[in-house]
Amino acid sequence: MQKMADFLTPDYESEYLNKDAAAKDLVFMGGRASISLNGNWNYTIDPYDTCLRQKWFKEIYKDDEGRTLPVDFSFDTWEEIELPCNTNTVKPEFFWYEGPVVFSKTVRLKETDLAHDHIFLRIGAANYKCRVFINGQYVCEHFGGSTPFMCDVKEYLKEDNRIVLVSDNTRNRYHVPTENTDWFNYNGIYRDIELVLLPGDYIKDLKIALVPGSAFKKIKVTVRTSSDSGVVKVNIPELNISELLSVHNGTAERELDASPLLWSPESPKLYDVTVSFCEDTVSDKVGFREISVKGNDIFLNGEKIFLKGISVHEDSDATGKALTDEERMETIRVAKELGANYLRLAHYPHHENMAKLCDKEGLLLWEEIPVYWAIEFDDLDSYEQAKNQLEELICRDYNRASVIIWSVGNENPDTDERFKFMSSLADFAHKYDETRPVSAACLVDGKTLSIKDRLAEKLDIIGVNEYMGWYSPNFDELDMLFKNSNPSKPVIITEFGADATAGLHGTVDDKGTEECQAEIYGRQTETIKNIPYIKGMSPWILFDFKCPRRTSSIQGFYNRKGLITSDRKYKKPAFYVLQKFYREKN
Ligand code: GCU
Repeated sequence: MQKMADFLTPDYESEYLNKDAAAKDLVFMGGRASISLNGNWNYTIDPYDTCLRQKWFKEIYKDDEGRTLPVDFSFDTWEEIELPCNTNTVKPEFFWYEGPVVFSKTVRLKETDLAHDHIFLRIGAANYKCRVFINGQYVCEHFGGSTPFMCDVKEYLKEDNRIVLVSDNTRNRYHVPTENTDWFNYNGIYRDIELVLLPGDYIKDLKIALVPGSAFKKIKVTVRTSSDSGVVKVNIPELNISELLSVHNGTAERELDASPLLWSPESPKLYDVTVSFCEDTVSDKVGFREISVKGNDIFLNGEKIFLKGISVHEDSDATGKALTDEERMETIRVAKELGANYLRLAHYPHHENMAKLCDKEGLLLWEEIPVYWAIEFDDLDSYEQAKNQLEELICRDYNRASVIIWSVGNENPDTDERFKFMSSLADFAHKYDETRPVSAACLVDGKTLSIKDRLAEKLDIIGVNEYMGWYSPNFDELDMLFKNSNPSKPVIITEFGADATAGLHGTVDDKGTEECQAEIYGRQTETIKNIPYIKGMSPWILFDFKCPRRTSSIQGFYNRKGLITSDRKYKKPAFYVLQKFYREKN
């Protein structure tokens, strides 16, 4: 009867809640070789979480007397799936599935692989909870749907291995984001899965950037190592830098004199950086630039800039949230065709390759954690999840020149609990990264019709979402909003826009038509261009995207505010209105 116990323990999950993989466990990946675990996995949906309840990962096929037991799983004869991917996209019957999915793969390792002192499993992202089991043992878990996590798995591995992963995208009011968002809740292990082989002493982290306020003449490099002492070597050949740094208490840090060619969208110069420590070597391609704020202005390398942007979700008809580099390059190409120099990556960390590609192609980025709408702001565990996602994001993308703003959230109610929660996040971002401004997409203060959010005192740049002409039909309120406001910091209009169903025509007052969307873009840009404290904009949004909240017959479970259809084939007239505005802005 021992096997029958699984349905008698409702609190089955508690034993899996004690092995969090978090930001502290991340290891710098630049230039590292790894054993990819992408490719064929066996899988099943597991709506009642039976894998965790019955502990399928232990693979108990016989009782203590050796008698065969009936089992409810068959790892090696389940259907196959190509990971990374979102399970929603593999077959129509899984499109709306929310719940646990179990993935299984047998992996043979060579003696030489197993001989490494450390072997880390890295998963680029899994939504939302993910548990890792190897050879019948529970290894680690991760909460958070869009950031990488790692765990040292050497002690669990042998020559022949069974790896079982369980992802669960069930929405939950205590998660970040909560169960209520305006985008599609994809499932699965949807970014790269790999084993990283490391020597006994290795480089845990490499942070390198131009020193703010150094007249572009100093580069600060910070290397964290697995052991307390030793020597790291930093090489930047094109800058004639080859320096030895001493490690104290696990960190080596120095400001180096250098006069790099500054990175910008127009001149996205990247330098090869190599750092070695004992037997370990990492590398990165780094652009050196300075982003700063003074008064109502934003400066890139000491020059005032206007962020000509557009918002993007990580959503594709073909691949869900598991976009390919080709799709990312298409986004970059069409953003440049729009005349943009900037993208708002909404509302969660996108794939790390997006920032790497924008480093190369020359686009500026706003990156954001999904502290979205009404989070449980008085819940400590929700705060820890938000903070960990922010730390994982900054740790992952710190060296990316294209990333110029960290956003701690979007459209949150102005309550005391929210103020405390998001102020702490903003303070953390400032402390953890002194080189970038912090922002958030705030709501307009409805009572005073002005830009007035207490959180602004904690931000360097104020993001404002306003939908005059759409959710606020009286367009004249836009002039009043700006007249009623007198912000002391730069403002980015982080969202304005309107739905338009491609091919739907009517008058400029007919909501949902191409004409109405184009008219709103025209009136918005005509108004915004005269407001001196507005230093950027990222209208909502480049592509139509899937959204379960949008059920009208012209929406069909899509948010149709895109300037381009979700199949990325048709540009609506509003695209050309914005393109004209950006061209004139030059
Ligand atoms: C909000 C929100 C977006 C949402 C958009 C809309 O501002 O930030 O996530 O999709 O408005 O209503 O279309």
